[in-house]
Amino acid sequence: VDQTYIMVKPDGVQRGLVGEIISRFEKKGFKLTGLKLFQCSKELAEEHYKDLKQKSFFPKLIDYITSGPVVCMAWEGVGVVASARKLIGATDPLQAEPGTIRGDLAVQTGRNVVHGSDSPENGKREIALWFKEGEVCDWTPVQSPWLRE
Ligand code: GTP
Ligand code: MG
Repeated sequence: VDQTYIMVKPDGVQRGLVGEIISRFEKKGFKLTGLKLFQCSKELAEEHYKDLKQKSFFPKLIDYITSGPVVCMAWEGVGVVASARKLIGATDPLQAEPGTIRGDLAVQTGRNVVHGSDSPENGKREIALWFKEGEVCDWTPVQSPWLRE
């Protein structure tokens, strides 16, 4: 089963959007397996976004992600990685479709309120990076038979 790492970025926390963002994934029917408020180090932010190290905006990105607490989440479900990316919407919130998180709640790429893993491999990698052993919880929601036949 796929797993994805979703993170409410510091702007989402500061703007009081944590509940709204968690709700989008809950209502869709994915399973929450990890959740915490966390202020990350520069080292962790750099490791998380290591593929973007050569980009001109990288220093700004690291300042942004470390500027306040984030909400770290692990979500599980068949197809969750690609589906979460669709729920989140395009990187540039002005291009993101209405109905998506960024399309509804943000206006600028540098303040796009939420992160989602871009592949199942990165989902696993990022969950292992942001959560310690024992912080991710496997459980069976009672609604499972009402979500999947
Ligand atoms: P994430 O889910 O956060 O990984 O976003 P993404 O997958 O939609 O985009 P990408 O991985 O390419 O970039 C990661 C993050 O870097 C984006 O979400 C933005 O916060 C930031 N970013 C990307 N491009 C730019 C840019 O051109 N300018 C600025 N200031 N930030 C950018
Ligand atoms: Mg990305």
